[in-house]
Amino acid sequence: MWQPGERGPETETLDRTYSAKPCDVLIVGAGGAGLRAAIEAYDKGAAALVVCKSLLGKAHTVMAEGGIAAALGDVDPQDSWEVHFSDTIVEGQRLSNWRMAEIFAKEAIERVYELERYGALFDRTKEGKISQRPFGAHTYRRLCHIGDRTGLELIRTLQDQVIKRGIPFMDEVALTRIFRHPGHGRASGALGIDIRTGKLVLFRAKAIVLATGGCGRVYQVTSNSYESTGDGIAMAYRAGAELMDMEMIQFHPTGMIYPPGVRGILVTEAVRGEGGILTNAQGERFMTKYDPKRMELSARDVVARSIYSEIVAGRGTKNGGVYLDVSHRGEEYIKNKLPSMYDQFMEFAGIDITREKMEVAPTVHYQMGGVRVDPETCESSVQGLFAAGEVACGLHGGNRLGGNSLSDIMVFGRRAGAAAAAAATTAPQPKVDEKEVEAEIDRVLSPFAPGSGENPLQLKEQIARNMWEHVGIVREEESLQAGLEEVGRMSEAAREMRARPGRTYNQSWLDALQVWDMLLGCEAIIRSALERKESRGAHTRSDYPAKDPKWLVNIVTVMKDGAMAHFLTPVPRPPPELEALIKE
Ligand code: FUM
Repeated sequence: MWQPGERGPETETLDRTYSAKPCDVLIVGAGGAGLRAAIEAYDKGAAALVVCKSLLGKAHTVMAEGGIAAALGDVDPQDSWEVHFSDTIVEGQRLSNWRMAEIFAKEAIERVYELERYGALFDRTKEGKISQRPFGAHTYRRLCHIGDRTGLELIRTLQDQVIKRGIPFMDEVALTRIFRHPGHGRASGALGIDIRTGKLVLFRAKAIVLATGGCGRVYQVTSNSYESTGDGIAMAYRAGAELMDMEMIQFHPTGMIYPPGVRGILVTEAVRGEGGILTNAQGERFMTKYDPKRMELSARDVVARSIYSEIVAGRGTKNGGVYLDVSHRGEEYIKNKLPSMYDQFMEFAGIDITREKMEVAPTVHYQMGGVRVDPETCESSVQGLFAAGEVACGLHGGNRLGGNSLSDIMVFGRRAGAAAAAAATTAPQPKVDEKEVEAEIDRVLSPFAPGSGENPLQLKEQIARNMWEHVGIVREEESLQAGLEEVGRMSEAAREMRARPGRTYNQSWLDALQVWDMLLGCEAIIRSALERKESRGAHTRSDYPAKDPKWLVNIVTVMKDGAMAHFLTPVPRPPPELEALIKE
């Protein structure tokens, strides 16, 4: 049994060599945003290459189960892009970039039709139109869906298109660093580890699209899969890109709570969309107190806080959750509309949701913050570095509407791919500073240094516990400071991490690298949360419980003299004709 610090013969002579991989557009991540970017870059004539640390299509995208939001008006003909725009801005608590929201609401419609043309099989209405279900805080029934497996179908469809085009991809390759051209500073390359062999690869690219998803794994209870460790955010930050709104973490109201091994797994909002009712342990339908008009279909931040309040007030179930019941819809309906939920509860908890209640509690699901991007092109503040999907920031403001993530990745994945392909046509030959590459190799191989040290997996667990305890749904100065101190302590400990020997499929090595990225993400989240002294959307401060108009600003995080710095920037105001559309 390996002990941290114990060395094996293979580590005596560390192989520092790397192979070179040139391409026009390097796409990092193979969830929905990455795949859609790859399709567009390829269709625009660029030599695109997709690299992902897991398997092609194994991404958090599949956890957007209940649908893709787009104002087709197939079920509610009154719906329009204008109303979708307004809903997005209002529920984003006015922190969204208006131009991103406008582009998004307009283009989401065509992206759904495009998915159909690509082969996605949406559920239909009796008239043969695309079926759209209600979701929290959407004014109309707007979520086009495939049962409760919408994200999965979207990934399958996009994967088919990538394979059909013959777009090259390298899976099980973990990128660690983005390099900039030593002359003009454009993003120019990246270093990666081939997880299968442990060998290093240097990518030289004329443009890079980050589509790496979020950092939900920094929390103990999350719907996110193991991949969501915030690598893209850390790489962008270290390359000098600006991050924004990092304090905005979305707690999905309903995750599984029991048995403990499945805690955090998503219970789709589609359950509430299909009529699911929330009650506390005393049998009260508590949403009547918190949002009597919208009830269970209130905004995610509101429902999550309501459930949290019930639990904290001692009205939770014995496993620490509340009840969610959809059994009144009947077996046939549930099995047809919510097949995954039926299977999930049956297999994991032995609960038949056609007859019994589910037990649920909030789970970390999404980060609204991320890399600050240009609304038209998705380019970050580093030229040639683009970001799309959850890793990017700007659309969702202080609270994302359910279903808006799938349309986000389609709209902005496409835009990022197109803009990166265009940038690649004019970009000079990529060049990286060899000294920077060598320094990164030092960093990447440092967990193999001789001597004993910290176990990366234990640090990962400490990170997740710290965030859950100190940076939860409700925050306040003291606990945030305690969380930050703990991040400082863990960062010191992380200098001494040691991986087990061997380079092939070495998870402890990857864990070590991810710990550094996760700690960076935690620091950005906590510092921004300390900065925002008000309660807005997903960010609730018990010491500043009111929303304060003075905080109608985005908090930008950037590296300054090697340390994390912040500045505030006013949220851009929409032009009058768009402002007139916004119905608070
Ligand atoms: O509940 C859900 O199905 C999640 C959807 C989303 O996050 O967009």
